[in-house]
Amino acid sequence: MTLNTQFQDRLKRLRKEIDNHLANLPLPELPESLYKPMRYSTDSPGKRIRPILTLLTGEGLGVDREKVMPAALAVEVLHTFTLVHDDIMDNDTQRRGRATVHVKWDMNTAILSGDGLMALAFRLLMETDSPQIGRMGYEFSQAMLEICEGQALDVEFESRQTVSSEDYLEMVGKKTGRLLGLSCQLGALISSGNERIVDSLNRFGIELGQAFQIQDDLLELTSDAENMGKSLDSDIVSGKKTYPMVLAQSGMDSREKSTFIDFLKSNIQDRQAIINAFRDRRAIEQSQQKITVLLENAMAHLRKLPERAANNLKFAVDMISNRQR
Ligand code: IPE
Ligand code: IPE
Ligand code: MG
Ligand code: MG
Repeated sequence: MTLNTQFQDRLKRLRKEIDNHLANLPLPELPESLYKPMRYSTDSPGKRIRPILTLLTGEGLGVDREKVMPAALAVEVLHTFTLVHDDIMDNDTQRRGRATVHVKWDMNTAILSGDGLMALAFRLLMETDSPQIGRMGYEFSQAMLEICEGQALDVEFESRQTVSSEDYLEMVGKKTGRLLGLSCQLGALISSGNERIVDSLNRFGIELGQAFQIQDDLLELTSDAENMGKSLDSDIVSGKKTYPMVLAQSGMDSREKSTFIDFLKSNIQDRQAIINAFRDRRAIEQSQQKITVLLENAMAHLRKLPERAANNLKFAVDMISNRQR
């Protein structure tokens, strides 16, 4: 067995363990209008990237997996909460191969069960047995605020004419990267509060998350809804400033920008025409190059970590960079 297949097996086992814990979360049955959609969301089949990062960091630093598990579950439930509200904000109908909560039930149910998931995430975090729990709670709340900032910028950018690639990177560093940073930080905080390590892990997560989000933007263009398990096309329809969009529009005046958008919208059913339009402006190629640079930068932060933890996270980077959904 090569090291890589060994690691694939390890990831599979970790994912299964996380899924088992999620399936057995102690939640009441009633009121059904709250707990049924919460269960529906925590049971839905996600890739579990964030809790895997927490477990790999913790284990790499010598902490027992069982001790890290509550924090790992907390980041996954927090992520699940952000998806429920994000799908309302983005008006999306499909998530993880299923109807989104506001479509399956209604808007109020999605708002409230999202709130419930956020509370559950905190409760899970507080089950952590660590002298650092106060600091963990602080980082958790701070990361949540930054995710909200990222989501606010994402919406503001929809109606902004000009968004630079620096603006974009700030926005996705917050909406996506900070949670990956937090996921790693928590795995380190449980064992010790070594500031250098905790800080490096956050920086690692932010750059990894920026790469992850650009990859997501690209997959939204080049993949299909069935494979991704979520609604695509909403980026173009709602005027999202994705990375390929920011690149494609750079150097255009406002008239050219609206001609470009009109072209995309009128060809929304013709994916190849859309891909070609981005390709002609080298936006796909340059997005791929940016992913490579960001991943290299992210991995440079791992130099400050003990070898075992750094190796664990390098494999996680591999897993993420090879993802097809
Ligand atoms: C979706 O995250 C939201 C983004 C940051 C793009 P994932 O792609 O990790 O979603 P799941 O958890 O596997 O469904
Ligand atoms: C998701 O961002 C980020 C958060 C939920 C905070 P997107 O809106 O770009 O991700 P998808 O495409 O819906 O998964
Ligand atoms: Mg969305
Ligand atoms: Mg969104």
